[in-house]
Amino acid sequence: MKKITIAIDGFSSTGKSTLAKQLAKELEYVYVDTGAMYRAVAYFAMQHNLIGVDFFEKEALIASLPKIQLEFKFNSDLGFAEMYLNSENVEKQIRTIEVSNFVSTVAAVSEVRSKLVEQQQEMGKNKGIVMDGRDIGTVVFPDAELKIFMTASAETRAQRRFDELQQKGNNVTYEEVLKNVVDRDHMDTHREDSPLVIADDAIEIDNSYLNKEEQFAAVLELINDVVKNA
Ligand code: DC
Repeated sequence: MKKITIAIDGFSSTGKSTLAKQLAKELEYVYVDTGAMYRAVAYFAMQHNLIGVDFFEKEALIASLPKIQLEFKFNSDLGFAEMYLNSENVEKQIRTIEVSNFVSTVAAVSEVRSKLVEQQQEMGKNKGIVMDGRDIGTVVFPDAELKIFMTASAETRAQRRFDELQQKGNNVTYEEVLKNVVDRDHMDTHREDSPLVIADDAIEIDNSYLNKEEQFAAVLELINDVVKNA
């Protein structure tokens, strides 16, 4: 079957990565979580005291970019790839609320974006890839054969994120998570470089009231149509 590029964009906690992982498994495609890459850069900035509640050493972070090496390594026990920052597995560290609070600031830096976009384009050059993020259908792969844009209400998304964080033992309140979701939506849609927008040719899916199975079935049907006509 012909391999295509599948771009999945949308707001935070809309289940992009769950859908992308399901699709990659079903189609035997490579899955790339680009949010993990921005999170790893934010984590690096935190570790090196370049970002905090009331400061951001943007120029110092830009100067450090050549020292940031990002890599995905497939974990066959988990069935997906984990994020490595300078050879350290940071999969757990990058999912904390602290990293979530700083990541949009770091992701607004053009130099950070161009470094990561270049790496993402390289990963997808042979197609057969499902990539999720905010700018995949608009900037990384504007020619992707299938573009999906996922949305859900902020409250639905905050509840999902809150449940996930609680399960992992993170001590946060629902209000804190909702504030993070709303703040990130604002920053991601208002930044100057590659703001989160829906591509003209993207198919929008609001999954506030769709379960994972219904969503998966609907998207597989879309893929079959695209592949038939590709
Ligand atoms: O998908 P996520 O919530 O893990 O993404 C974390 C942040 O990274 C998100 O708030 C915005 C940013 N991001 C981005 O700017 N561009 C991408 N392609 C992916 C994520």
